[in-house]
Amino acid sequence: MIKMQQNTNEFETRLKHYQQQFEHLYETIQQGERALDDLEQLIDEYSGYILDDQPTQQYEHWRTSTSEQQLLIKPLADITARCVKLMESTRARRLIHGQLGSTGYFDNIEHCISEEFGQFEITPEDTVLLVGSGAYPMTLVQIAQETGARVIGIDIDEEAVRYGRQVIDILAPDAQIEIHQKTVAELEAIREVTHVIFSSTVEMKYDILAELYDLTDHDIVVSMRYGDGLKSIFNYPKQETHPQYWTCVDDITRSDQIFDIALYQKRSEGRA
Ligand SMILES: C[S@@+](CC[C@H](N)C(=O)[O-])C[C@H]1O[C@@H](n2cnc3c(N)ncnc32)[C@H](O)[C@@H]1O
Repeated sequence: MIKMQQNTNEFETRLKHYQQQFEHLYETIQQGERALDDLEQLIDEYSGYILDDQPTQQYEHWRTSTSEQQLLIKPLADITARCVKLMESTRARRLIHGQLGSTGYFDNIEHCISEEFGQFEITPEDTVLLVGSGAYPMTLVQIAQETGARVIGIDIDEEAVRYGRQVIDILAPDAQIEIHQKTVAELEAIREVTHVIFSSTVEMKYDILAELYDLTDHDIVVSMRYGDGLKSIFNYPKQETHPQYWTCVDDITRSDQIFDIALYQKRSEGRA
């Protein structure tokens, strides 16, 4: 019993330490990029940590023994989302200036794309929309190259859109990829979209999913990247959807990947 309590205390101390480290590096990098390698290393370590068995078990015990988990989980998800965004911008700047590197985090993200839609394969006739395409939109490049589909990214951030377009021009100049600073409601091609992917670190992803219901075709399939349990310290979690509209048709949980994927389709008896 005492051992279990010790483990729980150690776990909470570790999470608080991660939070302080991320906040410190985020502030430091605003003053200059020198600390970026430290941030990349920390993100790699953190990615490994959330996939490790021991902290996953500690999390389960901690969850049942505290009522204040959200006081730590949500701030960690928020600061790490900001750090990943910062790392993507820097990676984009480095590519644009001819100095490309790779980190474990990006390798992990980039290996996930082929399994994104499970049985709902993307064909060259399809149109894929990525919500939260980011400054370094590898998902767009890989889908365009692997499937030949038309690919559209949207992002709320002006810099992410500008860098994203420059990265595409370098990595996939001939692919059918567009990036816009628009909402789903503003996108002219929204009715043509057949597949949607939500980046895991888009906080409003379930609100946007609800909005998509009336805007899109009936057969659309949505891949919602998310992280529950210990993964929710690095991802926004899965939420319930309105029972009349979207239904979860598959849940792809991956013990070796930093986020999981829930696939949604429209309920046939819904409003569309
Ligand atoms: C860092 S990137 C992609 C990260 C990672 N590949 C993933 O799957 O989460 C996430 C992007 O989402 C964008 N974003 C956040 N909220 C958004 C929203 N409501 N609509 C569109 N883009 C959003 C951010 O500006 C950021 O560029």
